[in-house]
Amino acid sequence: MKKSMNLKHFNFNTGVLYSEDANLLELSDSLETPFYVYSAQTIRENCRSYKKGLSSSDLACYAVKANSNLSVLSLIKDEGLGFDVVSGGELKRVLKIGADPKKIVFSGVGKTKEELKLACDHEIFSINVESEYELELLEQLNKIPRISFRINPDIAAESHPYIETGKADCKFGISEEEALTLAKKYGVEKINLVGVSAHIGSQITNTDLLVEAYEKLENLADQLVSLGFEIDHIDVGGGLAIDYELEKNFSPDELIKKLKQFSSKYNLTLEPGRSIVAQAGVLITKVLGIKENGSQKFLIVDAGMNDLMRPSLYSARHKIDNLVESSEKKDLYSIVGPVCETADSFGSDFEVNANAGDYLVIYSVGAYGSSMGSNYNTRLKPAEILVDQKSHKVIRKAETFDNLIKEEEL
Ligand SMILES: Cc1ncc(COP(=O)(O)O)c(C=O)c1O
Repeated sequence: MKKSMNLKHFNFNTGVLYSEDANLLELSDSLETPFYVYSAQTIRENCRSYKKGLSSSDLACYAVKANSNLSVLSLIKDEGLGFDVVSGGELKRVLKIGADPKKIVFSGVGKTKEELKLACDHEIFSINVESEYELELLEQLNKIPRISFRINPDIAAESHPYIETGKADCKFGISEEEALTLAKKYGVEKINLVGVSAHIGSQITNTDLLVEAYEKLENLADQLVSLGFEIDHIDVGGGLAIDYELEKNFSPDELIKKLKQFSSKYNLTLEPGRSIVAQAGVLITKVLGIKENGSQKFLIVDAGMNDLMRPSLYSARHKIDNLVESSEKKDLYSIVGPVCETADSFGSDFEVNANAGDYLVIYSVGAYGSSMGSNYNTRLKPAEILVDQKSHKVIRKAETFDNLIKEEEL
C-alpha cells in the first residue's frame, strides 16, 4: 500500500484511493457524484488526542459548526467529548443524539430569547454570554443559568481575516473591562458566572497565541474570584490549525501540555472543530469536461462552491488529486465547478491527469465543507458516507429535487 500523504486512513492500494477499507472507486461507481466520505477512525483518533491531555474535570467541546451531521456528532459523543453550539438548531442536534447537557457550551454573538430559554431549560454547562443584552434576556426569562463571559482579548489569530474573531474591533465577545463592569453591576446574586471564555479565531498555527489568550482569561478570572464569583473553568475556544498541504500535524496534545504548563489553576475547556474533523473528510467529484479560454485550461467538475465553499469564501486551497493513479502525463489545470459565479473555482495550477468521466478527490473537507453547503443555483446537497473500517454507511442521502422545493408555495 503506497502512502502518498500524511493521512493515516486515506491510502492508495493498487492505484486506487481507499478510506480505511473502503475502495473509493467502487463507491464512486455506485453513487451519484459529488459526495463526501468521512473516516470514522480519523475522527476517533483526533478526539482521543484531545482527551489524552485533559483531566476528568476538563472538557473538550467539539464545535458543531465544523460538521454537524448527526452520525458524526454521535461518534464524537461516544468518544466522550462535549459540544460547543452556536444556535438553537445546533443545540437541538446535540440534544437529539443524547448529548449530556452538562457537557454543552453555547457560544454565539446573536442568541435569541427562545434559544437562551432552550439552553436554560436543559441546564447546559455554560452559556457563553457575549453582550449585556443577553443578561437582560436572561433576567426577563427569570433564569439564573451557569454562564461565562466571552472575552474579546484583542489578539490576532494570524490567519484569514474572515476567521479572526478575537481582535478588539470585531463583533465577538466583550472586553475585559466590560466584563468587570457587568460582573459588578449584576453581582453574585443576579448571575451565576462560573467561567470566562474566548475564541480568537481558526486555523491557528502559532499556539503561543492561545497561551496568550489563556493568560488574559486567567487574569480576568482571578479578578472575578476576588469579586466573589466562583469561577470553575477557563474556555480558550477552538482554532487549532490543520495542514491543508497534508505534510505536518498540529498536535492537540502538545497544545494542551503548553496550556497546562502555563497554569492549571482552573479547569480547562476547549472548543475544537476543524482539528477533529477536517482531515477525516474527502469530497469525490467527477470531471464533466475540459476547456480552454484565453491562457487558462479548465477542468470543469460536478462539485461546486455550493458543496465546498472554502475556496471561494477564503481563497482556501485544498489538495486535489486523481482518485485512480495514472501513469499518463499530468497537466496544469484550473479546477472549477458548474455554478454561475467566477468565484466558483477550487484554484489554478493543479497538476492532474484527467479526462471527462474521471473522478477527482478533494482532501481536508471534513470541516466547514458540508456544514457550509448551500442550494445555490438549485443544486442538491450531496450524500455523505461514513466509513468505519470494513463497513460504510450513508449518513446523509443525496438530496432530491422534490425535497428541496417542498416548503415552497405556488
Ligand atoms: C465560538 C467558537 N468556538 C470554536 C470554534 C471552532 O474553531 P475551529 O474549527 O477552528 O477549531 C469556532 C469556529 O468558528 C467558534 O466560533
